Amino acid sequence: MGRIHVLSDHVANKIAAGEVVERPASVLKELLENSLDAGATRIKVQIEGGGKKLIQVVDDGCGMVRDDALLAFERHATSKIKDADDLLNIHTLGFRGEALPSIGSVARVLLETRAPEDASGTVLEIAGGKILRVEEAGLPLGTSIAVRDLFFNTPARRKFLKAESTELSHLASLVTHYALANPEKHFELHSATNAMLIAAPVETHSDRIYQIFGRETLDQLVPVAAGMKLERVGIPEPPPWRRDEDYEPPVAGDIRVHGFVSKPELQKLNRNSIFIFVNNRLIRDRLVQHALTEAYRNIIPPTVFPVVLLFLELPNTEVDANVHPSKTEVRFRQQSLVHDFVRDSVRAALMKARPVPQFTREIHAQPTAAPGFSPGALQAEHSADGSVATMPQLPGEFALQPAPQPLITERLQFAGESIPVEANAAVSGFGAPGHATVAPTNGAIPDTCGNVLADEPQAVPDALALASLKPLGQVRESFILAINADGLWIIDQHVAHERVLFERILRERSQAAVEGQRMLMPLLVELTPAQQAVFAEISEELRRNGFEVELFGTRTVAVKTAPAGVETSDVEKMLLELLDQCGDPEQQLNLEKIRGRIAASIACHAAIKINMPLEQHKMEWLLKALSETECPMSCPHGRPVVLRYSVKEIQKAFKRI
Ligand SMILES: Nc1ncnc2c1ncn2[C@@H]1O[C@H](COP(=O)(O)OP(=O)(O)OP(=O)(O)O)[C@@H](O)[C@H]1O
Ligand SMILES: [Mg+2]
Repeated sequence: MGRIHVLSDHVANKIAAGEVVERPASVLKELLENSLDAGATRIKVQIEGGGKKLIQVVDDGCGMVRDDALLAFERHATSKIKDADDLLNIHTLGFRGEALPSIGSVARVLLETRAPEDASGTVLEIAGGKILRVEEAGLPLGTSIAVRDLFFNTPARRKFLKAESTELSHLASLVTHYALANPEKHFELHSATNAMLIAAPVETHSDRIYQIFGRETLDQLVPVAAGMKLERVGIPEPPPWRRDEDYEPPVAGDIRVHGFVSKPELQKLNRNSIFIFVNNRLIRDRLVQHALTEAYRNIIPPTVFPVVLLFLELPNTEVDANVHPSKTEVRFRQQSLVHDFVRDSVRAALMKARPVPQFTREIHAQPTAAPGFSPGALQAEHSADGSVATMPQLPGEFALQPAPQPLITERLQFAGESIPVEANAAVSGFGAPGHATVAPTNGAIPDTCGNVLADEPQAVPDALALASLKPLGQVRESFILAINADGLWIIDQHVAHERVLFERILRERSQAAVEGQRMLMPLLVELTPAQQAVFAEISEELRRNGFEVELFGTRTVAVKTAPAGVETSDVEKMLLELLDQCGDPEQQLNLEKIRGRIAASIACHAAIKINMPLEQHKMEWLLKALSETECPMSCPHGRPVVLRYSVKEIQKAFKRI
């Protein structure tokens, strides 16, 4: 007798459940997607015990007739596709016909549903894949699915679940993001004890962000919106002999992207705050992640990540959603096109916004920022129509508080001792009559002494404002203090110059060779075998960047010329650093990246150092040169260059407003 047998449906469902249902959030994802596919406009989610005890989704969608309700729990039963061709053009979130049978095989499920064509509804109870009860009942239109005791019959999986609070945060994050993706729909999320999110329909995505996270968060984000016509490259077509007379070749359609990306000063330590929707499907995609990293190259450090909420829309024929059982990945037909489109659109949005970091980035300390970032807090934000959205803490997810790392500046205390100011620095100019902020205007705020302070210009701080900066002096011969009508600015002289040089070197490199300066004596540098290999690969590029380096024996190179501005004592260190960076096996480097690395390294070594006194005209020159750069807000390594203490913040600090 043979040894092979076909597994029963019961076992097959459990296997499928292993792929589809990993944790409570995966159940909720499937239920939410089903509700959205059913055309629901109101979706209410109830959670108990971090989803282990109960996950219930109630919607006002199309509901199911009795027969469909029974079929829905059969494997590969779906109303969304019919044949294999449909797989090439999936326009619903679900299509596999696997979610409900998978969930039904590892939990106790109660389905209550009524379709408009039926006078009464159907109640169906399933536990561990077995139907326990089917009944008729008077029910409202739509569907309610309650999933109880997840993994009750697979204790091993239950053990893998994290603490209730962790699972709850995943669930909350999921609902938040589906709510963000569908602003025109009503979403509610309730835990056993409180209403965690109530978001009434609003018109736009930014209204939704405002509704859920508040104005402060919205101000942290830069809107992205771009579109382009797709070329008709290789779109599947029937062969000529199968085409009708009136056959029209497929239209390529458009690719569009919209959403929000964070300003450079908002940095996260992991990718958990990057949310990408492709045709309204929440996915994790390495290609788009990579495009984002590229867009932020030289704007934020490579070790940190932005906050991103991006919606990519393209014809369904251009995306294959049938890649992963949990439908969290897609494959693009034209991968590099999508990659470059996302990279360029995000980059362009960042360049256009040219945002300037402010002194205070303590979003977590500001109650109006992302609601509920303090544990357990329940904040209310009013939506456009006056309804209230509330949101709990979302640890590790779309939590917009800056990462606790040194790149983020602390709130500056304007108590004399907090900022050591050089004795001779011209800070006495700050606030002196004649400076822009003291001219009275309409809407001015009188102070108690009868003096009048002009309203701060309402515009978002923009790098253009740098052009009007007036340097006052240096703090510790390292940070330039400057003022303009926007407020008080501090500029890190080293990174500012680094940014100026970086862009100049890249420009020079693209036109001709970068200027080099001859060393008095060739500098001999010994290389490791790995460094030798990298040297062989990038020596031509080094030459074009102002280096003249020759092999000298087997393990040594002689540096005869180095890029202008780099001190002789720095040359060896710089060269070795470059060889190590370009040889990092973790990073796939192309020529463009290598150029960027070299330019960043030269800029860093040639830039004005800290602890260096600068004359007035030098400071003026530096600020002007900085204002002319493409990206004055951060250095090539992604650190902030300037900080602004706005007039409003100064007024607040002095309790004038
Ligand atoms: N909330 C709902 N409202 C109306 N019909 C629903 C709802 N949820 C499920 N259905 C019906 O049940 C069917 C089976 O759902 P199920 O989630 O198992 O599969 P699917 O959504 O078709 O595909 P996938 O497995 O990819 O999610 C759906 O095709 C749909 O017709
Ligand atoms: Mg489904």
